[in-house]
Amino acid sequence: MRIEPLIQGMVARSAHPYGCQQAVLQQIHYVKSAPSISQGPKRVLILGASSGFGLAARIALTFGGADADTIGVSLERGPSNKGVGSAGFYNNHFFKQYAEQAGRVAININGDVFSKNIRDQVVEAIETYFEGEVDLVIYSIASGMRRKGDSEEFWHSVIKPIGDSVTGATVSLENDQWLDTTLPPASEQEIADTLKVMGGEDWENWIDTLINYDSLAQGCKTIAFSYVGSELTHPIYLDGTLGRAKVDLHQTSHALNLKLANYDGNAYAAVCKALVTKASVFIPAFTPYMLALYRVMKQKGTHEGCIEQMQRLFSDKLYTGKPVPVDSERLVRVDQWELDPDTQAQVQDLVHQMNASNFIELGDYQGFKQEFLRLNGFGFAEIDYQQDVDLSPFMDHI
Ligand code: NAI
Repeated sequence: MRIEPLIQGMVARSAHPYGCQQAVLQQIHYVKSAPSISQGPKRVLILGASSGFGLAARIALTFGGADADTIGVSLERGPSNKGVGSAGFYNNHFFKQYAEQAGRVAININGDVFSKNIRDQVVEAIETYFEGEVDLVIYSIASGMRRKGDSEEFWHSVIKPIGDSVTGATVSLENDQWLDTTLPPASEQEIADTLKVMGGEDWENWIDTLINYDSLAQGCKTIAFSYVGSELTHPIYLDGTLGRAKVDLHQTSHALNLKLANYDGNAYAAVCKALVTKASVFIPAFTPYMLALYRVMKQKGTHEGCIEQMQRLFSDKLYTGKPVPVDSERLVRVDQWELDPDTQAQVQDLVHQMNASNFIELGDYQGFKQEFLRLNGFGFAEIDYQQDVDLSPFMDHI
């Protein structure tokens, strides 16, 4: 069958296996040529390993100098009679293939990160493949929901402002249309539920589990990813439901830092830049900012993707042999170039001029959409998209 991009609103409904392979390969090539991670961890657990920052972190740590072995957890769909499967599934498949070719251990565990079953599988994999201990735990989950224990009920996260409504625009990737949106403020229940899904509780549960099973090595670190943004995005992000969850995540990093002190280890929240990922395109009223930011940072030569951010985080901040640089709130920052005052001034200018009829020219809409398509394996010059793809080699694989 031929596989073409299928976008519904902001969700990709198809993925091209060999395009995903290209995406993984290009990230591997990048980290091999970038400043190396010289004193990196050897045994790494990545929760949310199949796309975005988690995948980039996995690639950076395996191929960017640390030569790490990895266990990656994600929730992805393989091909079936219902569809071609998700991009993350193919990313996992090809990452594993390349890592094993390089002599590294790469274990993929597919299932719900919030479940006990997956915790048990991970603990067992740490025993089997890592001699019982990990050196780094990365928490890179972006999810819209979390199951309540073993029940059939879920907490759902919402992306809404708190207090006042927010008006902004979203651009539909399905039909390239600018949609003016007004988001009502979240209810107390929605705020609390978003905290359950995207706050620090599950990260802490994971570290507690690993402590209980004696699975943390001496010097073990853990990190989770956060976003802060600027005044332009605060109403929808930092001051909204997601921001509340991120503040909770920051507080969790402090609590975990105390727990890891027993291992001579550390816990950090790392603040990253705004990037196109499966999760971030969902954020309503955020697109104009992204389009302007991409335009300005590319012009200035300061634009980075997930892979550049992760390689820099590990080689320049977390594993240098020196104390990890943190800000006054003990956050590790790799978002400085996004927040550079001149960048923000130019972005603000563009955002204020942008509207339904000029966003394609004023913002970097082409770059934004291309990146989204590439996340799903489309738009690679190396791939002949007219060719039929046989999905049978990917059946029964993870
Ligand atoms: P993503 O959507 O690319 O990756 C999310 C990962 O979580 C995937 O591997 C997915 O399979 C996994 N996942 C989701 N639900 C799961 C479940 N129930 N069980 C197991 N795995 C599950 O997202 P992205 O953007 O890489 O986000 C990762 C973290 O980075 C999030 O905490 C996000 O808030 C943060 N971040 C993202 C920024 C952005 O601009 N994209 C900026 C700064 C921080």
